[in-house]
Amino acid sequence: MAANAQQAIGIFDSGIGGLTVLREIRRRLPLETIKYLGDTARVPYGTRSAQTVQKYARANTEFLNRQDIKLLVIACNTASAVATGQLRGAFSLPVIDVVAPGARAAVEATRSGRVGIIGTEGTISSGAYQREISSRVPEAVIFAQACPLFVPLVEQNWVDADDPVVQMIVRRYLEPFLDFGIDTLVLGCTHYPLLKQAIARFLGASIILIDSAEQTAREVDATLGTAGLLRRDPGGPPQYFVTDIPHRFAATGSLFLGEPLDDVQLIDIM
Ligand code: DGL
Repeated sequence: MAANAQQAIGIFDSGIGGLTVLREIRRRLPLETIKYLGDTARVPYGTRSAQTVQKYARANTEFLNRQDIKLLVIACNTASAVATGQLRGAFSLPVIDVVAPGARAAVEATRSGRVGIIGTEGTISSGAYQREISSRVPEAVIFAQACPLFVPLVEQNWVDADDPVVQMIVRRYLEPFLDFGIDTLVLGCTHYPLLKQAIARFLGASIILIDSAEQTAREVDATLGTAGLLRRDPGGPPQYFVTDIPHRFAATGSLFLGEPLDDVQLIDIM
């Protein structure tokens, strides 16, 4: 059946982090209906092998594909880094990932060609951001660093730029970037936009921070617009699906979204 504008946008992430992407998509496209799947039973993805994340990403997409969606957003950077090609090959839906939009924005922003990337261990070791940037600017000098403690820090809501614990961890991971002389840093993980203030304060105003979520929302807008699939009337609030502990998702998720999360359903896709 051909896609139509009334269908929803499907978004999946390993858990709550993708709500930063949902928030940007809603800000840009407030009329759209969104169906969001957080794979809370199997989070985190960032410490798992590419094969395992690919398997999870496929199961998530199969579920959302049955929910009458017109476009899929892989909101998780780790899943985007290792599973985008496979999902595009296996499903006939348009699939938007978060790595390519973030990399493109970094390429547009950098003046010196010295670009930093931070993300989960899975994202950094996949080399996906590095490849995307180098394919556009072959002479770019790229410094990449996994920051595994950032995810639990954010999930504890320890994000305050004045908190000495936050400052210490930010310094430990990001100090090398100052020596590398980057002018642009890609926040290559769903959780990192919540640490933006602390990161910006440490690195200083001259280093541009790239938030993949904003760029991804732009890409969703452009893709639906070109296909004539943008909604013209309000589609109602988002619907949330999780694979474990809905009340925890609702509680932590409201910190990410800045509003209460209604309509969280537990599903089984194991
Ligand atoms: N959503 C993941 C990402 O953007 C972070 C959390 C996880 O490791 O699952 O890479």
